[in-house]
Amino acid sequence: SVGAVSAVNVQAVSAPVSAITKEVTVLFGSQTDNARRLAKKFAKRLEELGFKVVLSAMSDFKPNTLKKVENLLVLVSTHGEGEPPDNAISFYEFLHSKRAPVLSSLRYSVLALGDMSYEFFCKTGKDFDVRLEELGGKRIVPRTDCDVDFEEPAAEWMNAVIAALEEGTPIHAAGNAEAVLAETGTESEYSRSNPFYAEVLENLNLNGRGSDRETRHLELSLEGSNLKYEPGDSLGVYPENHPRLVDELIQAAGWKPEEPVPAGKSGELPLREALLRHYEITVLTKPLLEQAAALAPGSGLKELLAPGREQELRAYAEDRDLLDLVQDYALTGIPAANFVKILRKLPARLYSISSSPEAYPDEVHITVRAVRYETRGRDRYGVCSVQLAERIQPGDKLPLFIQSNSNFKLPENPDAPVIMIGPGTGVAPFRAFLGEREETGAQGKTWLFYGDQHFSTDFLYQVEWQRWLKEGVLTRMDVAFSRDTDKKVYVQHRMLEKASELYLWLQEGAVVYVCGDEKKMAHDVHKALAAILEQEGGLSPEAAAEYLTQMQQQKRYQRDVY
Ligand code: 2AM
Repeated sequence: SVGAVSAVNVQAVSAPVSAITKEVTVLFGSQTDNARRLAKKFAKRLEELGFKVVLSAMSDFKPNTLKKVENLLVLVSTHGEGEPPDNAISFYEFLHSKRAPVLSSLRYSVLALGDMSYEFFCKTGKDFDVRLEELGGKRIVPRTDCDVDFEEPAAEWMNAVIAALEEGTPIHAAGNAEAVLAETGTESEYSRSNPFYAEVLENLNLNGRGSDRETRHLELSLEGSNLKYEPGDSLGVYPENHPRLVDELIQAAGWKPEEPVPAGKSGELPLREALLRHYEITVLTKPLLEQAAALAPGSGLKELLAPGREQELRAYAEDRDLLDLVQDYALTGIPAANFVKILRKLPARLYSISSSPEAYPDEVHITVRAVRYETRGRDRYGVCSVQLAERIQPGDKLPLFIQSNSNFKLPENPDAPVIMIGPGTGVAPFRAFLGEREETGAQGKTWLFYGDQHFSTDFLYQVEWQRWLKEGVLTRMDVAFSRDTDKKVYVQHRMLEKASELYLWLQEGAVVYVCGDEKKMAHDVHKALAAILEQEGGLSPEAAAEYLTQMQQQKRYQRDVY
């Protein structure tokens, strides 16, 4: 009969159907693109396993559809002083507002990306985790907080989530943990976990004599790597520690340079090698201090970690390195092989790429300011920037990888006007943008705001901007040299001077890009943009803020700030 037939059909179809249609929503919030890349990989893997996956940036996700979501996976980074990434802000605010829905049927899990050396480590991920529980969600698996070396803990979290999602649901198992680690969508075999050793073709100081600054322009060969990038992407560089710091540390701790110590995937290395290439020795994180205190019980370090002294601890850790720690707490006599186990792996440094691949095929350029200062009687050096400035010559090879950045991309429409704000080394990606627009013959108007200390010594790539101005690739340029005049002028002052014209460009659909220092510059530039909208557009402060949020959501306001 009909009934029997349909029953058979239901049986035959329903088992695989219920298995295949298990839905998972993967949301990411990402500043440097790591969370987005992980989310994309994870979504692909879930799809291969038969899940129905919705993958979306938080900024593109319609918050009122949240109520219908059964399984939610949140991958989000934290930047600055515990802030959500730009493309997570609106969703973060929505969830923390009174408009947030009750989510009693939601299952979720959070993967938080961060950097242990920051006080507000993984704060955004933690906030989402707490808030989703408050709203009634149940965790699929506990949150994982990743330090800078995130690949492995991220893969473990994904495996745990998949195992939990598959429980009770017979989904045909395909794929494995290794598949997660493999990069998808790139043609190159080289990646963060397998860097390409690129030959240095050129290494120049862009600053003139007498400048306070030293800014290196590096040209690197990508020949044979198959590595591809777009303007706006970053280059990851694995640095080495300063040999002098390593030698002083070995001496202060009473170690021997040649004694073998474990060094992760490299197996055992002589201590000096391991400290040069493998371990971070310039940053004191709280877990490091805690473990050092356990290794040296009588050192007094435990007391510094006592409750109530958090402020003091923060002040101590902020500006000190491992040599300070060993000297201040007389950490001698601890076997090196034990000590290195408490150190983090030396993380790669990211630099905004300053070349257009169209203009320089098979090359990649970066623009790096050497960080040098003196504290407590000792010269301190930025690990990677000073290595590049002092110890890297043409012919040397550097381990590197491409870090895509989908949050900082030229508009697809070549006619769209762009406004670029990049004082100091923040100008780097705009050299890539203009090179690209020149090579592709894009017709859109372009406007650059640049600034630094002195016109005569600090005008990075001056000749190139002027050529592009002459040839019409660059439509306008306004510069602010802060130490050539009695009163400091910064890029945001120039923007305010040109408020009416800048507002016109915004009306014409200009995309605004800001690159460089976050805390001071990018913050003040944001305020200047709001002020221009209020003054020229007659918007209230609230409406101006909303306008900028909208611009961010529509990718008409993009930032690459650090
Ligand atoms: P200063 O060092 O003279 O104060 C690039 O580093 C340029 O950014 C320098 O000219 C620097 O000026 C300037 N700068 C410093 N603080 C800034 C801020 N809050 N907004 C914009 N530019 C700033």
